[in-house]
Amino acid sequence: MAARPGAGDSVKIRVEGLRHRYRGTGRRDLLALDGVSFEIRDGEILAVVGPSGCGKTTLIGLIAGLIKPEAGVVLVDGVTVRGPGRDRGVVFQELAILPWRTVRGNIGHGLEIARVPRAEREAIVDRFIAMVGLTGFEERYPHELSGGMKQRVAVARTLAADPKVVLMDEPFAAVDAQTRITLQEELLRISMETRKSILFVTHSVDEAVFLGDRVLVFTHRPGRVKEIVEVPIPRSERRFDRLAGDPRFLEVREWVTRLVRAELRGDGDG
Ligand SMILES: Nc1ncnc2c1ncn2[C@@H]1O[C@H](COP(=O)(O)OP(=O)(O)OP(=O)(O)O)[C@@H](O)[C@H]1O
Ligand SMILES: [Mg+2]
Repeated sequence: MAARPGAGDSVKIRVEGLRHRYRGTGRRDLLALDGVSFEIRDGEILAVVGPSGCGKTTLIGLIAGLIKPEAGVVLVDGVTVRGPGRDRGVVFQELAILPWRTVRGNIGHGLEIARVPRAEREAIVDRFIAMVGLTGFEERYPHELSGGMKQRVAVARTLAADPKVVLMDEPFAAVDAQTRITLQEELLRISMETRKSILFVTHSVDEAVFLGDRVLVFTHRPGRVKEIVEVPIPRSERRFDRLAGDPRFLEVREWVTRLVRAELRGDGDG
């Protein structure tokens, strides 16, 4: 088996038979997810890809405890999720940092809510500011930052609260291609430093295969697990310039692309 730095064999999150239906007002209800089961291992990055509207954000809402499932359960360390909790941190699809707070204020926000004492809080915040490369920008406000820097604030804020699991919903979709690669490489590095379990939702097959220890491919709506593909490349080898020509990367990318394309055409067997 390929070495997965930081990844043990124990299960962090178990999702079992998840189904969710949105209630329509006057119109038909919409079945967003059905029969979804998988697990996130301790320390692993599980990337999730699938067509637009297949239920990826809904899945994050269910794991975060923001939405209640119609059927099925989510277990974190064996305990059933019944609502939101600090053990799960979310980086939302739409940027969710506070415009009236500085970089420092944003990153420390969750720690303030958790009533972490000031000195300890400042030390944690400093560590994460350095980790995401925002040293020197501590007292800036979001409108003074680039798109990529704002994303770093959002990621640092979630990590600083020290959740067991980080749920990321297309966090890098809005930044330019070059910044995106930088952020992806940083996330890999940070994930090795913090050993967090991460569920990373994206539209991009390249991003999923670059970041994921495994890639979960969703079917067209209602979202079901079509296939979970192992990416047999250790994290320490994942540099963008190296991977672009790596046969292991290309092979997995081709396979995942084929799976996703079948769902876009609607001729998948799922
Ligand atoms: N609050 C809501 N009320 C009703 N329907 C919703 C709601 N949120 C999402 N849906 C529907 O549920 C389905 C799944 O939506 P979801 O946002 O989970 O998809 P997604 O996979 O995240 O899509 P995208 O890749 O475009 O972000 C969609 O058909 C969407 O229209
Ligand atoms: Mg979404």
